[in-house]
Amino acid sequence: MAFNKREKIQDLLSGDFLDTQVSIMGWVRTKRSNKNVSFIAMNDGSTIKNFQVVADPNQIEDDILRKCTTGACLKITGKIVASQGAGQQAELVAETIEILGEADPEKYPLQPKKHSLEFLREIAHLRVRTNTFGAVFRVRHALAFAVHKYFNDKGFFYIHTPIITASDAEGAGETFKVTTFDLKNPPLDEAGKIDYKQDFFERETNLTVSGQLEGELAAMGLAEIYTFGPTFRAENSNTTRHLAEFWMIEPEMAFHDAEDNQDLAEDFLKYIISYALENCKDDLEFLDKRAHEEEVTKKADQRAEMGLLERLKFVVDNKFERLSYTEAIEILRNSNPNKKKKFQYLIEEWGADLQSEHERYLVEKHFKKPVILTDYPKDIKAFYMRQNEDGKTVAAMDILFPGIGEIVGGSQREERLDKLTERMEEMDIPAEEMWWYLDTRRFGSTPHAGFGLGFERMVQFVTAMGNIRDVIAFPRTPGNAEF
Ligand code: 4AD
Ligand code: MG
Repeated sequence: MAFNKREKIQDLLSGDFLDTQVSIMGWVRTKRSNKNVSFIAMNDGSTIKNFQVVADPNQIEDDILRKCTTGACLKITGKIVASQGAGQQAELVAETIEILGEADPEKYPLQPKKHSLEFLREIAHLRVRTNTFGAVFRVRHALAFAVHKYFNDKGFFYIHTPIITASDAEGAGETFKVTTFDLKNPPLDEAGKIDYKQDFFERETNLTVSGQLEGELAAMGLAEIYTFGPTFRAENSNTTRHLAEFWMIEPEMAFHDAEDNQDLAEDFLKYIISYALENCKDDLEFLDKRAHEEEVTKKADQRAEMGLLERLKFVVDNKFERLSYTEAIEILRNSNPNKKKKFQYLIEEWGADLQSEHERYLVEKHFKKPVILTDYPKDIKAFYMRQNEDGKTVAAMDILFPGIGEIVGGSQREERLDKLTERMEEMDIPAEEMWWYLDTRRFGSTPHAGFGLGFERMVQFVTAMGNIRDVIAFPRTPGNAEF
């Protein structure tokens, strides 16, 4: 007999099940008992809301009731009746309770009290059973679904780009190597260097930092594509915004210039945020309250000006500010924190790379809304970005979000073969190895553009979780690959 005959709590809350016989399965959040009755709050993951079960000790055996402790997994069958108490419309009167999995209350680490996020990170295998992480992962799912819906509705094609690659698209050199060699004893060539010709792929390979280059190839035939996959960076950044393994969404569009790219990115970001607002009401209300409770513990000048829901609506309803890197540098150079030497990295001259303190100043203090920064100096950007007429800047765009800093990086691509090879030479990127990339410029080249959205940073923005480790189920960061 099929086991999975259950109603989801999310559906029971609709009120359509009054006076019917149902089974639910889920985990005990809390149990309160008196002489006459036990109240068990059950959660089955379908919603942040618990469902109240009423168990009469004359009906349910004592040693079963004793095992209904926080964290235990139960199957409960009974009748849905109108609730006596306030708060919930219906409750389940238990006729049978089956213990699917006990949770010894002496040992179960998750108790019905407030645990710190740091502690919960150490028990990431269990934290999905808390309200906060249940909400975060349901919202994460909704955002991922919205990404696919947005692009599918617009006629984009989802491309799976390779995870193992021989190139380093961003040229930052922060890759994880992929090899089957015995690291204690790798084969060496005549010069004494590791002989990758004898390795599995007969060349040096690494985990991808971006699907963009292959995405560009696909766009030169399918016209509008996107990738949504894991990317890997071995940068030793122990910040609240960096993971060693994160997910990136990278659309790539033939026949788009820099402005088309900005328009699409803004529309896309607003769409997925609106989707979450419409489809994750209960979870976002919970996260809004949670964020508020956290804000009030901060010093007044460090508090966010808007609550979570207010901030999400604000971003959806307002046009992003667009300005060039050059204009931004002027603003930063004349800003108070720069004059008073409050920035860790002072902005002195044009050409400086922007740090997250600068990005956040522009977004949070100066414009107070999302900002699209364009036309960066070519020397601080990747080789593939289209060179502007001025000879100094490229058609880059970074999108900066409040509380996050950079959330999107993208550009119009250099579609002119001569300009591209020239730039690669300047940057010491071997053209022979990139022959396939250059072929797209040799044959049927066209203006095209794209961008990459860091998915976890978006989930952070929508859930108001301060640390990126708390928006991915099992974070990979320097020194941490547990679970
Ligand atoms: O700006 P990045 O490096 O751009 C690219 O990789 C381009 N190939 C994208 C493209 O044009 N197709 O990365 C894109 C975004 C960043 O804006 C940031 O949101 C996120 O990826 N990101 C990270 N997120 C978490 N942890 C990290 N270590 C990240 N590095 C980048
Ligand atoms: Mg970037």
